[in-house]
Amino acid sequence: MENNAMTTDSTSAFWTRTHTCGELRADDDAAIVVLNGWVHLHRDKGALVFMDVRDRYGITQVLFDPDLCSATAFETAKACRVEYVVAVRGKVVKRPDGMGNDKRQTGAVEVQALDIQLLTRSEPLPIALEGKAMAGEDMRLRHRYLDLRRPQLRDNLLTRHKVTLATLNYFDEHDFITVETPILTKSTPEGARDYLVPSRVTPGTFYALPQSPQLFKQIMMISGYDRYLQIARCFRDEDLRADRQPEFTQVDIEMSFITQDVLFPLLEGWLGMLWERFLGVDIELPVQRLTYADVMERFGVDRPDLRFGLELATVSDLVAGTEAVPLKNALDADGTIKAMFLPGDPTATSRKELDAWTKVVRDFGLGGLLWGKVADGVATGAIAKFLDEGQQAAVLGRLGALNGVDTSSGVLMLCAGPHKNVNDAMSRLRVLVAGDKGLIPADTFVFCWVTDFPMFTWDEEGDRWDAMHHPFTAPKPEHLHLLDTDPAAVLTNAYDMVCNGYEIGGGSLRIHQPSVQNKVFSLLGMSDEETRLKFGFLLDALSYGTPPHGGIAFGLDRLIMLLVGTEAIRDVIAFPKTNKATCLMTGAPGLVDQLQMKELHLASTVVPPEAPPGEA
Ligand code: AMO
Repeated sequence: MENNAMTTDSTSAFWTRTHTCGELRADDDAAIVVLNGWVHLHRDKGALVFMDVRDRYGITQVLFDPDLCSATAFETAKACRVEYVVAVRGKVVKRPDGMGNDKRQTGAVEVQALDIQLLTRSEPLPIALEGKAMAGEDMRLRHRYLDLRRPQLRDNLLTRHKVTLATLNYFDEHDFITVETPILTKSTPEGARDYLVPSRVTPGTFYALPQSPQLFKQIMMISGYDRYLQIARCFRDEDLRADRQPEFTQVDIEMSFITQDVLFPLLEGWLGMLWERFLGVDIELPVQRLTYADVMERFGVDRPDLRFGLELATVSDLVAGTEAVPLKNALDADGTIKAMFLPGDPTATSRKELDAWTKVVRDFGLGGLLWGKVADGVATGAIAKFLDEGQQAAVLGRLGALNGVDTSSGVLMLCAGPHKNVNDAMSRLRVLVAGDKGLIPADTFVFCWVTDFPMFTWDEEGDRWDAMHHPFTAPKPEHLHLLDTDPAAVLTNAYDMVCNGYEIGGGSLRIHQPSVQNKVFSLLGMSDEETRLKFGFLLDALSYGTPPHGGIAFGLDRLIMLLVGTEAIRDVIAFPKTNKATCLMTGAPGLVDQLQMKELHLASTVVPPEAPPGEA
């Protein structure tokens, strides 16, 4: 690196700022100020140098004029490059009326530099921070320290900070206390794999990182702390997607002596406060409540996007007795047939769009999408081959009544197959069609509670029941007797909060009787011995006077995604992981040396990669 005497980095004590780069206004005219920051833009006009100096708070334009500053300062300014760190001393000058930069908070002034200290230099940046040439995500994650300089990420983190504070304050005002729970703990099942940490002290044993603080918050209730809150880190080794990270943050809540009617308004008040404060939006309160059975039927998914219609209808009964092979096969195999109607001019939907939608449906393991363009109430295309006119009229009639739309012209779509595949495919299709056809209104937030989840789902592979929420969720009291006779029919007081198709929160009223908890463990296929080993502490705790209690956890990352308007969870986390759960900046997960392995009493049976996955 050059070492020109005129432009040597300043080693003397640096001048500390009198103002941030976002602070100066017309009222500061004639003030002598010091700014510290990064060279955001550097324009050398020969006789003058213009420099935008940036920090977290904003950008201020600085002018270097050799008539106003020393020759040394002018040369230093000339030698600066973008992202160098400088201290600038100068005089604030109000710009003539009409000559300001309205887009910038500091646009009414510029600073005429008297002197400059070059504090540190920067290598040329490996990634462009803005504009069309902005680097791909991998490069940005690798150089996250630079990526985080972008105003968008800065604003997201700022919002996150403020939402966290507002949340703590809101719940504090309602008598909640924050409690930290352990990170090195025992497995808390939330449906994902655990991250394990080997114990050095007790060979052969492992801590699990918490998938959530579920059992600790319940135990706090048993200990009498009836209103608990934690901004909690959670760790889940599961398949990642746009709204999922292996480590994420929950707003974790638990309360004693409550019903849903106590809990829901309190949470709605919190969300209402956040949306009002951060978006200026009044959300519709009370938030509507829909049952799980209802949303699965109408939207095919338990986190419905309610910003648009396109509700689904099961039409199996309307085509019963059909000889059309794909439909007959589905019904014979105890499957289902679901339909959706896109109202409007059918010619506005192209073959290309229909082919793309068909492909999506096939990706869910179904034979395809039966579709037909409907004009004057009559369908053409594949649908016409498979449904006679009477069946078409019945299907269209049901969809019309359900959606409150005219079904005489539009596109009718139908899927047949196993229940789960049909629901998965049609719910995906519904969102895709709405997006492609511009049916999703911008800047709109539609919330709902989804309630009354089943207690169990049947795991075909494992040939056993799984808990749908988690095993600590209370069956509805009136369904307790079904635990013995018909587990599939047991409904719970579990609930999710959904907004615009995102599950932003999930919780339940809990089991507070040891006998019920024991029964649920045994229905989940756990022997008495296994139950004792894994959850003995919980059963013991439950036996010493447990108040009825319940709670919920909201995904803080997802809340921020909605509040800042991004669809990528990585945009709201300072140091996120890739879809392969790696950190491209640090190279985690990393290799460890043999000594460390030995100390932890571990021997690996796999040959480790030559480089950590993040660096490969
Ligand atoms: P649940 O598993 O439903 O419930 O999680 C609660 C909320 O956490 C968020 N979330 C995630 N966010 C980002 N990445 C992930 N991998 C991820 N997984 C979950 C979602 C979800 O709604 N202990 C229970 C809560 C309770 O019963 O009180 C639990 O963790 O927004």
